Amino acid sequence: MCGIVGFTGKQSAAPVLLAGLKKLEYRGYDSAGIAVENDGLISVSKVSGRIANLCEKTKDGALLQGNTGIGHTRWATHGAPTDVNAHPHISNDRRFTVVHNGIIENYMALREELIEKGYHFESQTDTEVVVHLLEMYDSGDFKETVMRTTARLEGSYALGILCADCPGTIYAVREASPLILGVGVGENFFASDVTALVAYTRNAIYLEDGEFAALTPNGISVFDCTGAPIRKEISRITWSIEAAEKGGYDHFMLKEIMEQPRAVKAALTPRLQGDEIHLDGFDYSAEELREIRKVVITACGSAYYAGCAGKYAIEKLCRLPVTVELASELRYSDPQIDSSTLLIVLSQSGETADTIAAMKECQKRGAKTLAVVNVVGSTIAKLADHTLYTWAGPEIAVATTKGYTTQLTVLYLFALYTAEKLALVSEEDYHRLLSQLQGLPKQMQQVLDMNTAIPRLAEKYKHNSSVFFIGRNTDYSVALEGALKLKEISYIHAEAYAAGELKHGTIALIDEGQPVVALCCNEMIAEKTMNNIIEVKARGAKVLAVAEKGNRTILSQADDVIYIPRVDPLFSAAVEVVPLQLLAYYTAKEKGCDIDKPKNLAKSVTVE
Ligand code: F6R
Repeated sequence: MCGIVGFTGKQSAAPVLLAGLKKLEYRGYDSAGIAVENDGLISVSKVSGRIANLCEKTKDGALLQGNTGIGHTRWATHGAPTDVNAHPHISNDRRFTVVHNGIIENYMALREELIEKGYHFESQTDTEVVVHLLEMYDSGDFKETVMRTTARLEGSYALGILCADCPGTIYAVREASPLILGVGVGENFFASDVTALVAYTRNAIYLEDGEFAALTPNGISVFDCTGAPIRKEISRITWSIEAAEKGGYDHFMLKEIMEQPRAVKAALTPRLQGDEIHLDGFDYSAEELREIRKVVITACGSAYYAGCAGKYAIEKLCRLPVTVELASELRYSDPQIDSSTLLIVLSQSGETADTIAAMKECQKRGAKTLAVVNVVGSTIAKLADHTLYTWAGPEIAVATTKGYTTQLTVLYLFALYTAEKLALVSEEDYHRLLSQLQGLPKQMQQVLDMNTAIPRLAEKYKHNSSVFFIGRNTDYSVALEGALKLKEISYIHAEAYAAGELKHGTIALIDEGQPVVALCCNEMIAEKTMNNIIEVKARGAKVLAVAEKGNRTILSQADDVIYIPRVDPLFSAAVEVVPLQLLAYYTAKEKGCDIDKPKNLAKSVTVE
């Protein structure tokens, strides 16, 4: 999982590449490198660590002269994050150099073949086979050489290729990994995503799998996998540069937490016209909806937890069986899925490899697919029969916040829309729930405004080595996300349990002083959770409760209480998660963690 950039134009390439890599650093940040071509000679500079190290090594790019180049920021898969394993890789004759995002699955066999033929390998990466193949297949025709090389590759790859014999030209190849071309004036670009492009151009070409392109300063030619030229539409990037910047906050994560009322509003507003819900990307008739016998939601990580929370609303309102499956498990199971299944695929990035694989597996079995995705033009969006964008705007912090709440919002909309179409909800309930949905941004804002004490609570709880999160029903689904947030950015061990399960084993772990975050917002079940709070308190736990405003009983048991406004239990998860995001954020800040880039993690998990 990495980020790649490419540039060809009249200005010096290295500073453009470094600026692009900084924007892509969230995709991987254990090593980085650039290669620049100048008068038929290629210079490569690469280094382990962050892009800052590369900037220092190249004197902000000044040490590499030339107007054409490629760059890479890495998150190691094959081979440790060392200088040698960093990209770009260069061929033995130093004429070809390559950056790669993805995995070459057949690299072992190719490596053996190439070693037998006398090629010398420097790195442990799967990528290095590509440069040696380019050298081996070099016919003097760059395009043909690229085609012969990629014909040998199996797996997923977005490649950027530079050849010393073709000054000013770069090739970009896409197969199951994200790659976007930026169309400029007298200069052209490629990048793994638009954040690296917007400073230079807002005109983009989205490559499809199997397509590749030749970029020169004066033009871009796109080809299909047979090498035939194809015409591609130029799309306009609407995200602003500022939208991708921190906007005055210390961290992207805090900025993104604060943006949630606006993001949720952006997901709702265009879909609400008067009293009607219009799902732009999903225009099923009542007839078609009736053919759906079950809903399967698949995703990874927080997106999976958004699915767990959304399940309650869909099941309750649409009277359909809903299962939520981890994509990494679903892809290797033998699921009972056919054309009567609606598969809802949740993904902020739209590029998560496990999610894509699970989706393809279910599509093979005939499932209809609805993607709920943030990144426009991403792989999942393209693969799906229907796509509902979450419109959260770019999410840069590795730990998702607005990605999660907007996914949830779209699931709520889907649930209410479907229930109404199928005449499963009374007019009165429909209007009540619709107004609850419309009120979500305001309620999220209230949570942000009300909870000024969270930094103090973070200070109090930061020294614990382990925290339990408990809740029932929708509260349990939020507990799962709250625990993930805390562990991934503060490195404190955190586990979520269905509160009713404690007595079946886990309560044995509750000792004097053990912190327990108890979610007690779902009014239908709050009394039951209260009993569990009493049980853990009796064993010495320190309880931090999250409850609805007006719940005074909780004060008698909990050590600390965070209040949220009253929300219908069906939709409360989107509001209730906000204080947990803040708690995780401020705890990590107290501990001095690298909040936006937690160790061992990357934003977009494009490998299995
Ligand atoms: C956690 C987090 C991850 C992602 C997961 C899926 O904060 O961000 O767990 O939710 O990797 O990513 P997407 O939604 O891009 O498919």
